[in-house]
Formats: sequence, C-alpha cells, structure tokens
Amino acid sequence: MSELESIKKTLVQYDQEHILQFWDIISSDERDQLLQDIREIDVAEVASFFKTAVASLNEDGAKLDDRLKPIPPESYGSVKRSSESELQCYEEEGLRQISEGRVGVLLMAGGQGTRLGVTHPKGMFDVGLPSRKTLYQIQAERIIKLENLAYEFTGKRNNITWYIMTSEATMQPTEEFFAKHHYFGLKEENVVIYEQGLLPCFTFDGKIIMDQKYKVARAPDGNGGIYRALRDKGILDDMERRGVKYLHAHSVDNILVKVADPVFIGYCVLRGADCGAKVVEKENPTEAVGVVCQVDERFKVVEYSEITQKTAERVDNDGRLTFRAGNICNHFFTTEFLRKIGNDFEDKLILHVAKKKIPFVDTDGQRYKPEKPNGIKMEKFVFDVFPFADNFLTWEVNRNEEFSALKNSDEVADKDNPTTARNDLYALHCRYIIDAGGKICCSKGSVPVCEISPLVSYAGEGLECLVANKTLKAPVLLRHPTEEKNVAITNGTNGCSKDDH
Ligand code: UTP
Repeated sequence: MSELESIKKTLVQYDQEHILQFWDIISSDERDQLLQDIREIDVAEVASFFKTAVASLNEDGAKLDDRLKPIPPESYGSVKRSSESELQCYEEEGLRQISEGRVGVLLMAGGQGTRLGVTHPKGMFDVGLPSRKTLYQIQAERIIKLENLAYEFTGKRNNITWYIMTSEATMQPTEEFFAKHHYFGLKEENVVIYEQGLLPCFTFDGKIIMDQKYKVARAPDGNGGIYRALRDKGILDDMERRGVKYLHAHSVDNILVKVADPVFIGYCVLRGADCGAKVVEKENPTEAVGVVCQVDERFKVVEYSEITQKTAERVDNDGRLTFRAGNICNHFFTTEFLRKIGNDFEDKLILHVAKKKIPFVDTDGQRYKPEKPNGIKMEKFVFDVFPFADNFLTWEVNRNEEFSALKNSDEVADKDNPTTARNDLYALHCRYIIDAGGKICCSKGSVPVCEISPLVSYAGEGLECLVANKTLKAPVLLRHPTEEKNVAITNGTNGCSKDDH
C-alpha cells in the first residue's frame, strides 16, 4: 500500500478524511506540505485526546471543596519562616550543585503573548528599563552572575545549561536573536533551544480544522508540552549526558525571576524532592491565581473557579488564607522525575480545552476568520505532573522580591503590564541599595528609576562596596565595567534639590 493510501485509510477510520478533500486541486509543493503535516499527527492519538478533552468540557464543574486539603506543614517551606542560617545552608547547597554542573534551567518560552500583543517572542520584549535589556538578556545575565557566584563560593567553575523551549512561532526568531547577541555572553553550546509540539485544532463535533487547503490548523500543546518535547527532542538524553540532575523551570514573563535560584534548588535537593513549586502568598481570596494544595491526598493546582468562595476565604489561626499558595509557574524537577514523566505519565496528562476563534477553509476552499469561537484548542499545563511526584515540596517566597508577571499591554490592563514590571523591578533594586547602606534621591512622589545589572548583583549581594554611605540620584543604573557602552555608576550626592527626598 502506498503512503497516501495508508494515510487515507487511517483518516477514514477516524472520520477525518476531509483533510484530503483538496488533494486533487492543490499543487505538488502543497501536497508535500500537507503530507508533512499529516505525518506529524498521530491521528489515533489526537482523536482520543479530543474525546477526553470534550468529556472534561461537559463535566458539571462540581466544586472540589470536600476533597481539598491545604499543603501539610512538613512539605511547605518558606523564606519568611526560615532562619538566616537555614537560608544560607540552602543557598550554599544550590551553589555547590551549580559548581558541579548539575543544575539546568528550563525556560518555557513557547507562548504566543497574545495579551501583550507582540508579534515577536515575549523574551525579546524590551520593557523600557534604562538599559533597554530584554527579558532574555536579563535572564541570561542572571545565569552568568550565578555561575560566577558559585565559582567564588566553591573555587570550581561550571556551567548552568539553559534549555529554552520555543514553539513553531517563537523558535526561529529566538534562535536568531540569541545568535545576533552572541548568546549574551553565555557559551553557545550551553544554550539549547528546542521546539515544543503542536496539536491540531478541532471543530466542536470532532473534525480537525483545515487552516488552508494544504495545511492543518495546529496550535502549541501548552506549557505542559514541555514533557513530551524534552523526551522527543532528545533533551532528557542531553541532560543525562551532561550530568544535569536538577532543573529550575519557569515562565519567560516574570521580570523578577531568580533564574536557577540556589536557595530553592538547595532546599529541594537537601529535602530530597523530586518535584517542587515556588509559590507566593495569595493577595486576597478572589485573586485569580491557582493555588497549590492537595486533592484526594495528591498535590495539585486548583483554580479559583473550582472551589466555593467559602473555601477560598477560609483562614488559619494566624489569619492567613488556608489556601494561599499561589502558583507562579516556577518549579523544581529532578532529571529522573522528568524521565519518569516522559516514560510513564506524559500521555496521562490532563488536556485543558479552550474555545477559540480559529481561521478555517470551508468545503469550497474559501478561508474565513470567524467572529465567534468555532472550535477548540487543547493544552497541557506544566503543573499537571504534581500528582505523580513521590516527594513534592512547596517553597513560599516574597512576591515583591520574586514575582511580577508581564501578561498585558499598558493599553488594555493596569495590572501585569510593562509599567508594573518596570516599577516592581525598580522598587526591588531600590531596596537592595538601601539594604546595602545607600540612599536614593528622586522627585517627590515618583517611583525612583533604579536598575542594577544582573552582572553586578544577582539578588542584592555585593553592593556595599558600591553604594554604602552614598546618595544616588535617580535615575540610577548600576552597570558592570564589562558592559558595552559602560555608563559610570552614579554615586555621590549629585545635585539633589530640596524637592528631592
Ligand atoms: P501564558 O499562558 O501566560 O501564555 O504562558 P502566553 O503565551 O505567554 O500569553 P497569552 O496567553 O498568549 O497572552 C505562561 C508561560 O508558558 C509559556 C509562555 O511562553 C509563558 O512563559 N508557554 C505557554 C509555552 O511555553 N508554551 C505554550 O504552548 C504556552
């Protein structure tokens, strides 16, 4: 049987023969493209995904309250509730692991940034800091600084391998951007850029949607697509070859992210975790953030809509919300755990369904952009592996030190946008300077513009010699001498007027 005949047979079996409806009228190049699309789809598997996904869509959305438990205290560490010496111990362990080359970073950068409204990958976004650094550059420099700190602490130099997951839309621009900027000072071989998978989009009645006569409509399989991509793109093999044992996974759009955070890594390693989640305290019961908790004794992330208001409002004796562990897409994994997921659990991950407006060609070959949702996209979520962990830990950090998401444009929302991202970074960097014994003067009422290059300080350390007993006039930009167009460190009491504070 020819390849085409065999494809036809499978498509008929799963009621998808319409995919070839324009075969006789498309060009030979278009036929090649269509065949390639079909080869990349496991029709039997996606048909069964559709069934499962739609079944979940039709569930009655019963609240989970009766099955819910908060995180047990022994699995719930926190920066605030740890002593200085405990934090130091975790940090030193993290630095040791880095200097042994056992730590890698899994960056999830395959999203389309629809809400931010950008046509290029979000990592290439310049939020408007004085340095004009993009999210990718900030993260790259945090990695470089951390490698140096690990070296200074242990005397042994090693690299943190940076695994960047992109998608069909973000792969090429990301690769070009890194090459153009010489990997921001990292070694090219330690930046591994790979592509996540795609899943076909379906009509509500189970037909795969055609985007063009010769092209199937497909969308990235969600940030939970990371597990399949790690396995199928040879990334797990790469980790094992390099001896990378511990991974810090995070989203691309948190401007404050402590990339490869040695404290978090040290905490998880010393406590023998195979999987962990960094969380921030939920601001109020109605904040739209998923919370880490237990459902039927297994760890899960539960959305606000899945519990009643009464449960969301429940408080502990200390007055804090019982379900307060706000998930921020910031996780720890051992390579072994990721291998286990790839081998045994990847195909058991939940498929989340989103109803979307998906451009399509009709039976006459005419292309339409619908005005209301006409089909579904299916996505996996990175946190859906928590139930499969043997030793899951949660680590609560201070939001103003570690989390400020960039989701929206300034025009459409006043939250989680470039302005809030910048201001949150300025506020944190001001605190670093003040904690190091410096002062900042700026016009009354304004947020002092204050940016410290990651190459100068990873998390506020090492600033005393630069700022102690000095008053810096905003805007402040502390750059490392090696940085291009090196701007002198602003220091001294340079012209503060009486309107300044
Ligand atoms: P979001 O769900 O916030 O999506 O992704 P997004 O693409 O950044 O923005 P919108 O929803 O289109 O406005 C959270 C993190 O997961 C990554 C994103 O790049 C981001 O770091 N992600 C999301 C992927 O890596 N792959 C995906 O398929 C989806």
